[in-house]
Amino acid sequence: MCGIIGYTGHRPAVPVVVEGLRRLEYRGYDSAGVAYVQRGELHITRALGKLSALEDKLAQSPVTMATTAMGHTRWATHGVPAERNSHPHASNSGNIAIVHNGIIENYQQIKDDLLSKGYVFHSETDTEVLVNLIEECQKTEPDLLQAFAAALRQAHGAYAVCLMSKDEPNTLYAARMSAPLIFGIGTGENFIASDIPAFLPYTRKVLFLEDGEIVRATATSYAIMRLEDLSPVSRTVQTIQWDMQAAQKGGYRHFMLKEIFEQPRVLRDGLTGRINGENNSIALAELDGQPVPERLHIVACGTSYHSGLWARHLLESWAGVPTQVEIASEFRYRDHLLLGKNDMVLVISQSGETADTLAALRIAREQGVPVLGLCNVVGSSIAREASAVFYTQAGPEISVASTKAMCSQMLALALIALYWGRRQQRLSPDEVSAHIRQLDALPAALEAALPAMHERARELSRRYAQARNFFYLGRGLCYALALEGALKLKELSYIHAEGYASGEMKHGPIALIDPSFPTFALALDDNLFPKVRSNIVEVQARQGKVIALTNPGAALDVDDIWEIPALPAPFSSFMALPALQLFSYETADYLGKDVDQPRNLAKSVTVE
Ligand code: G6P
Repeated sequence: MCGIIGYTGHRPAVPVVVEGLRRLEYRGYDSAGVAYVQRGELHITRALGKLSALEDKLAQSPVTMATTAMGHTRWATHGVPAERNSHPHASNSGNIAIVHNGIIENYQQIKDDLLSKGYVFHSETDTEVLVNLIEECQKTEPDLLQAFAAALRQAHGAYAVCLMSKDEPNTLYAARMSAPLIFGIGTGENFIASDIPAFLPYTRKVLFLEDGEIVRATATSYAIMRLEDLSPVSRTVQTIQWDMQAAQKGGYRHFMLKEIFEQPRVLRDGLTGRINGENNSIALAELDGQPVPERLHIVACGTSYHSGLWARHLLESWAGVPTQVEIASEFRYRDHLLLGKNDMVLVISQSGETADTLAALRIAREQGVPVLGLCNVVGSSIAREASAVFYTQAGPEISVASTKAMCSQMLALALIALYWGRRQQRLSPDEVSAHIRQLDALPAALEAALPAMHERARELSRRYAQARNFFYLGRGLCYALALEGALKLKELSYIHAEGYASGEMKHGPIALIDPSFPTFALALDDNLFPKVRSNIVEVQARQGKVIALTNPGAALDVDDIWEIPALPAPFSSFMALPALQLFSYETADYLGKDVDQPRNLAKSVTVE
């Protein structure tokens, strides 16, 4: 979490940095700040709250023509959201300042040592400790690069950090350890940022920094070095293919709505080159030559975890691979029974930077278990460190609440299950052909259904927006969707919502049901429909109101029926998912909530 950007070039740097921060705001928005050097003085402007508060403050300050600057958008870890805890943080002398994403785990020990040497602290952050440690190191290493490296060698934990000094107004220093940092190479200008969109309007040429690397950059030069000995590193420049169009709202009120409506395109892109609708074949070059695992361990967080839960059904029934699904923050602190190379760990992560998921990947790799990474962001840490990577190709997802990423993950996982199922000869050629035909028809079917789905979501959201609690119930594939529906509602609208396996309700949660506690039931036309119908009746017997998401012709007598076009399972899930997303979107928007940037959340969680 937290977004950092540094710019050094020929343009007025502060507007470039602020504009970059706007595209990094998804990483946190508790506060923001910028630093630059003017007339030999380090200037820092910081503001609590969203970036617009910083812009207001900057508008009241004298305009600067400085051509080097750095900025930060914060998601609070050490220290409450407050101006004193906002970045950049300056050292006691005011000579140097840093912006930081991550956590310095031994900061208290370092702080105690610095306090004993007379340093004073104005914030509760680990970042202020780090900048003063650099200053302390300068006493024995006057060269700033040497002092920076010496301080970082003492710091344990995760960081992406950018450093400026009043003595070198046109130089940026930066370093990375377990937090993303990308170097952008322009013409007569260079960038350093947590993510590519921050500088995409200026350059597509990038270098992905690795853990334990440090960089020194001016407008016309840069050098990457190893932190341990400052030996030079050579790295191939990569060219990014995205365009900025993909990162704009495209006429929609919110990024979230745009991204929900992009799902037919996401399905098309995800299928292109992977299935051939003419001869009903499937080709997954990423998995060719690799054995089908004997056991699969899926590890992920948040929405990506729900994709894994959903896919387990297909991986077991189509591919015949015993599959466990676990939350990464739990997986990483457990003793595992991974069985070497016949097991496979599949990590799912939209951003490819989630700290717990990355840690799980590293544990598996240390144990010699192959790791397949399912990622959206090309070149992300997980994509680079996995033994093999399968890109979901959803394009940039800007809304903090994940939507199209889940659709793309479910598709990729269904393709993997189908591919392994064919290789294991568990699925007959006819079954594979039938599934491929269904997949091929999916994008158009969803595209046609989305407008009516949006309309119905709007109607129902008005009817239920005053509820303070919600249950989401489902079975089988729809259990994973129920969890996701509940997550979307709570993260966007702040209405308490619980996703539950509908068969489990009677073991306790049903006690909560009363006329003010509605239930959103996923009652699609599959083999579990009769069971779900019984569970709905049990809720109704306790005077609970029910919305049923179902298919035409379902024999259900509930408060609100929401019919979506029928598709055979598991493909019907691709219809149900946007319905759940749209209901949460419309509820949150109706309640006046900040849909794209819900409170307390961040899109990319790079801390534990
Ligand atoms: C955060 C985001 C969620 C996302 C989760 C996992 O909590 O707000 O939308 O599902 O991280 O992120 P990942 O990038 O690993 O899929």
